[in-house]
Amino acid sequence: VAEPASMVIFGVTGDLSRKKLIPAIYDLAHSGQLPPDFDLIGFARNTTDVKARLRESVREHARTPFDPVVWDELAERIDLVQGSFDDTAAFARLAARLAELDVRRGKPGNYVFYLSVSPSAFEAVCDQLAITGLNRTAHGWRRVVVEKPFGHDLASSQALGAALERVFPPSSIYRIDHYLGKETVQNILALRFANGMFEPLWNNRHIDHVQITMAESVGVAGRAGYYDGVGAARDVIQNHLLQLLALIAMEEPVAFDADSIAAEKIKVLSATELLGPLAETSARGQYGAGIENGVPVAGLVDEAGFPADSATETFAALTVGVATRRWAGVPFFIRTGKRLARRTTEVAVTFRPPAHGSPAARAAAVSNVLVFRVQPDDGIELHIGAKRPGDGMHIQPVSLGMDFRSVFDPAPEAYERLICDVLRGDATLFPRREEVEWSWRVIDPLLDYWAGVGRPDNYLSGTSGPESADRMLSRSGRAWRSLR
Ligand code: BG6
Repeated sequence: VAEPASMVIFGVTGDLSRKKLIPAIYDLAHSGQLPPDFDLIGFARNTTDVKARLRESVREHARTPFDPVVWDELAERIDLVQGSFDDTAAFARLAARLAELDVRRGKPGNYVFYLSVSPSAFEAVCDQLAITGLNRTAHGWRRVVVEKPFGHDLASSQALGAALERVFPPSSIYRIDHYLGKETVQNILALRFANGMFEPLWNNRHIDHVQITMAESVGVAGRAGYYDGVGAARDVIQNHLLQLLALIAMEEPVAFDADSIAAEKIKVLSATELLGPLAETSARGQYGAGIENGVPVAGLVDEAGFPADSATETFAALTVGVATRRWAGVPFFIRTGKRLARRTTEVAVTFRPPAHGSPAARAAAVSNVLVFRVQPDDGIELHIGAKRPGDGMHIQPVSLGMDFRSVFDPAPEAYERLICDVLRGDATLFPRREEVEWSWRVIDPLLDYWAGVGRPDNYLSGTSGPESADRMLSRSGRAWRSLR
């Protein structure tokens, strides 16, 4: 059970706060999961009409239906502090406000500082928290939450990590990777370790390769300020998709707690490396004009905020290996893209065909594939071969499936879960600094390589990405799972 606490959101008027954080906090209020005596302070440069705007965003983005009574109760607990991120006087007002709330409610000084700001502002906010002494506590606790991108490459990520740790101890720092808050992602560990039948097969003797796909049908959608110069690999592979890989490939943790899981993820990420030559084992693309969800759309360089010669990739694919006895020789193909044919995130584990048996049986063999469907139709499916009814022995791939929604109640949104965990002090679903840094070590050489070889390939919006991605897989005698 969470203790009474106050949360400060820096950048409360920003996109993330309006679309995800405030709606998730509302959903937690709706399901009675906020701590007792919870207060929320929004810190922003411009606080005009903020409450009315937050109300609108809850109406639009919350998971649960809008209930004015729940909102009004929550809104009474929302306070605003106006100031910029380097304004010591504003931070002093913030400190006074927090102290006042503690006295009024008779609660200890338990504070969450949520940095929903661009990474360039991390240091300024941390400095001010240190100057006003808000990072220290005689009683109660302090937690700081940061959002990706955690740097631009390994060096900048290390600098950011060091800056945070100058102000907060590592155990108080919660790095959000919202993919870990998704129930289907947590289910990877459940499927692997709560069942006896998969783990004996979970190695290079039985697994041919793994495909990790995060395909989005939407484009960059007005986020040029963030996305230009960042691109798909930094935006989602360095974090979300390498975290998925870590859960698929890690050894069994001694317990399902934060330290044990982090220890295994760090081991596997430190053994993960790009497989080359990069000209053949990677691909990148940028969407041109085409179709987004049935509607004609312009290409990236014609979108507001992008220079006509932007070399930012909206599609990235790479091949990595995990240098351990379990995984030696098994390629992991990772791809992501925006404006693809459909939205789907999944991990597909393809098993080797039977090694023995009669020529007839081998000829008829199908690929057994175990698919973790993360979204949108969250579930698990297993592809097997079955005999088609009728004459002869004609084998056809069929699929055994389970849809989470048909078995369980609707799952909370990732941000509900993660905010709840921060308030409870459970760090299991938050990547540690070493995980983030090992992940940069994996992709930095690819980013360097791309920086030296011109522009990304063009692909039509609404397709499966650039042809170079298909060639990349066909060279290894395999094919991507269809996005059609
Ligand atoms: C974010 C990326 O981390 O994840 C976005 O910055 C991306 O570019 C988003 O669209 C996708 O999240 P989800 O939960 O919709 O898969």
